[in-house]
Amino acid sequence: MRVLGVETSCDETGLALYAGAEGGLLGHLLHSQVALHAPYGGVVPELASRDHLRRLLPLLDRLLDQCGLGRQDIDGVAYTAGPGLIGALLVGASVGRTLAWALGRPAVAVHHLEGHLLAPMLEPDPPAFPFLALLVSGGHSLLVRVRGVGRYEVLGSTLDDAAGEAFDKVAKLLGLGYPGGPAVAALAAKGDPDRFHFPRPMTDRPGLDFSFSGLKTFVLNTLRAEGGGAADARLRADVARAFQDAVVDTFAIKCRRALRQTGIRTLVVAGGVGANRALRSRLQDLVQEAGGRIHFPRPEFCTDNGAMIAYAGWQRLRAGERAPLAIQARARWPLDTLRPPAAG
Ligand code: KG4
Ligand code: ZN
Repeated sequence: MRVLGVETSCDETGLALYAGAEGGLLGHLLHSQVALHAPYGGVVPELASRDHLRRLLPLLDRLLDQCGLGRQDIDGVAYTAGPGLIGALLVGASVGRTLAWALGRPAVAVHHLEGHLLAPMLEPDPPAFPFLALLVSGGHSLLVRVRGVGRYEVLGSTLDDAAGEAFDKVAKLLGLGYPGGPAVAALAAKGDPDRFHFPRPMTDRPGLDFSFSGLKTFVLNTLRAEGGGAADARLRADVARAFQDAVVDTFAIKCRRALRQTGIRTLVVAGGVGANRALRSRLQDLVQEAGGRIHFPRPEFCTDNGAMIAYAGWQRLRAGERAPLAIQARARWPLDTLRPPAAG
């Protein structure tokens, strides 16, 4: 079964064809809107929707060309139905659902975060269930116990900013462009780890929730206290380093706690911030010390992409799950309301 994945929840138009464990990933393509939104310092929802609309069908033709296939070779369509920007979601959902109907094939509505959680399944040595997942993206910071496809228990989440959002806001304070995560990470690599020490929010009390908005204030206050700003390259790098170290340390403390509490030995790190090298190597050390196993999607499948949606959709379609003919799109959609794939 060749499943087309359609991802348009935010600022990436992603398409992929996944053909099951044997066929594997036949191809995937991404059109990033980063350049489109960069002048505004963040994603402009209306521009995002319009660009998805412009890009989607030409991208589909390119993908099929690359795979040497035609539209008739698509056996099912998986589209991201939420959570995300509602206008952007509606474009992918309309195109995905309509394409499936026109071809006489089944469709399935996929939860974006389920895509992120299952993305490491596309790698050569996939994790076995149950695993613990740290899902860190622009919109979410979650610790999730994953018992199987559709069996997700949220153990902790952010009370304010998501990790990626914090990276993006700190990037603005440091005079860096959008998106901020990779820019802050690059600057932090040049920073002095001993000059500033920022707090590790919510690590001194029990629980697995996060809070990152205070760190942003810490960055602002430090820049002010040092009398520096965008012009002082040394200061900016040292502040970026202190911020990143605090985020990485906080995630390490919470992941260790969650692994101990659950007795699970496998950690999956997913979502855009999961592309951060400092975070990856720190968590790798932690899990190795504990005698467990860690899995990451390749960096391009940490950020939004069509492959993870095709995979999650394939899991649901092969179990007989079918989306109704109505076009489904939900800006908000709690992860723990999902259920295992079910026929019907
Ligand atoms: O998963 P994703 O592509 O989109 C959402 O579903 O939100 O995550 C995007 C987020 C952005 O906030 C971006 O700044 C952050 O991931 N990000 C990073 C890195 N690469 C992307 N944050 C820290 N370090 C990185 N290397
Ligand atoms: Zn995402």
